[in-house]
Amino acid sequence: MSNLFRLDGQSVLVTGALGGIGLATARALLEQGASVVLCDQAPVSDVLLAELGPNARSAVCDVTDRRAVEQLFRDFPNTDGLVLSAGILPFDDWMDEQWDASFDRVMAVNVRGSINLARVFFPAMCERRSGKIVFVGSVAGRMGGMQAGPHYAASKGAVHALVRWFAQRAAPNGVNVNGIAPGSIATEMLAGKPFDTSRVPMGRMGMADEVAWPIAFLCSSASNYMNGAVMDVNGGLIFS
Ligand SMILES: NC(=O)c1ccc[n+]([C@@H]2O[C@H](COP(=O)([O-])OP(=O)(O)OC[C@H]3O[C@@H](n4cnc5c(N)ncnc54)[C@H](O)[C@@H]3O)[C@@H](O)[C@H]2O)c1
Repeated sequence: MSNLFRLDGQSVLVTGALGGIGLATARALLEQGASVVLCDQAPVSDVLLAELGPNARSAVCDVTDRRAVEQLFRDFPNTDGLVLSAGILPFDDWMDEQWDASFDRVMAVNVRGSINLARVFFPAMCERRSGKIVFVGSVAGRMGGMQAGPHYAASKGAVHALVRWFAQRAAPNGVNVNGIAPGSIATEMLAGKPFDTSRVPMGRMGMADEVAWPIAFLCSSASNYMNGAVMDVNGGLIFS
C-alpha cells in the first residue's frame, strides 16, 4: 500500500513562508517530497534557499496586491497545493481613532489576501480536477482568541467561513479546501507577548512544526475525503 502522506511530484506554494508556521510548513512539505514555492513579501535569502535544497524555490508577493498575485499564478500555474499562511496580528487599542486603519489592514491581509490567492489558483485546480488549498485560520476565529484584538478575531472567523465557501465549490470539482485553526504558537507573531500557560490544557504554547505537519497532511492524499474542515491544533482547548 502506498504512503498517502507523501507528496512526491506535487508542487505546493506557501504564502507567509518566511514566518514561523510558513517556514516550518515548507520544511515539512519538502521532507514529504514536494517541491515548494516559498512566497513572502520579502525575498527568501539565497542562504535559506540553499539550505532547503533544490526542490525549494521562492517568490516575492504582497498578498494584498491583486495584480502581483495574478502574476504569481502566471509564474507557477501548475501548483497542486496552496497553503495560505500570510497573516498579521497587530497589538493595538481598538478604542483608538487610528484603529480603523488597522482593522482595514488586517482584513486586507488576512481575508482579502487569502481570497486573492485562492481566486487565481482555484479555477485551474478545478479544471485539472485535483488540488489542495489550506487556509490558516486561528483559535481566535473560533472563540474570540486569548490575546488578539477584534480585528484579528473577525478576520480569522472570516477565514473559517471562506474554507466552507470554497469547499462547497471545490468538492464537486475534485479539489479539497480545508483549514487549520492553531492555538498560540511560538513564532515571531507572539514574540515578547506574555502568555498564560494555565489557560491551555497541555500547559504550553505550540511549536511551529506542530502546526506544519497537520498542514502537510491536509496537502496530501491522506486527507482526500476531507473538505470544508477546520482542524483545531491548539493544545486541547475545547469550546462549542
Ligand atoms: N503564531 C500563532 O500563535 C498563530 C495562531 C493562530 C494562527 N496563526 C496564523 O498563522 C499564520 C502564520 O503566522 P506565524 O505565526 O507564522 O506568523 P509570522 O509573523 O511568523 O509570519 C507571518 C508571515 O506572513 C507574512 N506576511 C504578512 N503580511 C503579508 C503580505 N501582505 N503579503 C505577503 N506576506 C505577508 C510576513 O512577512 C511573515 O513572514 C498567520 O495567518 C497567523 O494569523 C498564528
